[in-house]
Amino acid sequence: MFAVSAPDNQSPTPESVDAMTQAALGELDAVSDAPAAEDWRVSYLGRRGQLTMLLRGLSGLDPDLRRAVGARANQAKSTLEEALARRTRELAQAALEASGRLDVTLPGRPVIAGRLHPTTQIVREICSAFMAMGFSVVEGPEVELDHYNFEMLNIPAGHPARDMWNSLWIDYRNEQGQQPMLLRTHTSPMQARVMEAQEPPVRVIVPGKCYRYEATDATHEWHFYQIEGLAVAEGITFADLKGTLYEFARRVFGDDRQIRFRCDYFPFVEPGVDMSISNFRDPTTGQRPINRDEDWIEIMGAGMVHPKVLAGVGYDPQRYTGFAFGMGPERIGMLKYGIDDIRHFYSNDVRFLRQF
Ligand code: DAH
Repeated sequence: MFAVSAPDNQSPTPESVDAMTQAALGELDAVSDAPAAEDWRVSYLGRRGQLTMLLRGLSGLDPDLRRAVGARANQAKSTLEEALARRTRELAQAALEASGRLDVTLPGRPVIAGRLHPTTQIVREICSAFMAMGFSVVEGPEVELDHYNFEMLNIPAGHPARDMWNSLWIDYRNEQGQQPMLLRTHTSPMQARVMEAQEPPVRVIVPGKCYRYEATDATHEWHFYQIEGLAVAEGITFADLKGTLYEFARRVFGDDRQIRFRCDYFPFVEPGVDMSISNFRDPTTGQRPINRDEDWIEIMGAGMVHPKVLAGVGYDPQRYTGFAFGMGPERIGMLKYGIDDIRHFYSNDVRFLRQF
């Protein structure tokens, strides 16, 4: 126990507050267990503790002294409170060490590690499948010129096929004047950019973000990824297209899923096709979590590069042929893993993300 000093008749001064604080801190250093720390607290900071009483007595002082002593006493209060908290922690730590009761067998706290986003994972997986077949990966701008997004792909202004891509246009002016620009609606513009920059043979894939002015639902996002593919050389035929895409599907989906080609129209290919894959079935329930009524789900467009596209970049269409394809990796992820809504990819819900 500490003696509570008897109230004397002398008025407190800033100096006497300091002296009390120093004395208190000295005593606190000597405190060696929790009960002694509690006694110390009561004697200085308790309801009838020295400092508390001093603060309470302030009102009796004349104003100048009251201000000076009050300020000092409030400082002293936080100093003492902090010192007590520190000493209490030290004592607790010392007690734990002395007890020898540190349980080293307790399980550690799990470290929550970050991981790759499922979109990144599936994009990388698809790219590796094509890289193993000799394709190299290139990337291009997300803000694209009308020229590459449409014109060079045999979709001139006013062409009704433009309606296939609801576009987000951008106001842009440079030295050449107004250049119609947009957020690219597909990765296909990179076909022309790549061919302009090199001579055949070309074998590239282009992963990247695309944007469309569209309402979202379970299978549509207004921003999403695409992976474009392009192979151009002498003597490439439709059989090469089918062989390459069969092999891609086998690598990504395994041997037990089937694929199907049907005729389709895209202005930059002739003939054009779409490729579907047999619907995902949950291995345990046998149910199809996505598009329950569908046996087949379309995963990409493809075709033989249109002669006009080849001629547009200065390739001789008499000499060179090629195939192109474009797919949505999120949709492929949905079909591979049985994810029922594309919006999960952009919702940042850790309960979803953690599963990959
Ligand atoms: N760019 C097309 C789209 O976004 C997909 C596509 C179809 C890409 C056919 C191709 C292709 O390269 O040959 O709908």
